[in-house]
Amino acid sequence: MSEQLFTAVTEARDIKEKNFSTFDVNGTGIVICRFRDEYFAIENQCSHALSAFDAGRMRGYNIICPLHGATFDIRDGSVTSLPAKQPIRSFPLRIVDGMIEVDLTNTN
Ligand code: FES
Repeated sequence: MSEQLFTAVTEARDIKEKNFSTFDVNGTGIVICRFRDEYFAIENQCSHALSAFDAGRMRGYNIICPLHGATFDIRDGSVTSLPAKQPIRSFPLRIVDGMIEVDLTNTN
């Protein structure tokens, strides 16, 4: 098992329920999503035509790409509807003292 290297990103309470925020962490764009008080981290780049998700929205455990409407499961980055065919990366996430920390050196 590889070593985990977590980086603090934001306070958990700053992510609204059924919503997400985007961040740049050491040059990597990520999306932190919150649904049913669980938090998930995925890359902020659609696998279809590389759009960011900033102007997208969430529906349940799915995030919807704003450009052509592909959807991905925020829990593991898998594709849940076309036109995307390839998954996006999802990253290990933990909460320590109310801070969300993400390990960008590994994927789920
Ligand atoms: S860039 Fe996301 S669906 Fe096309």
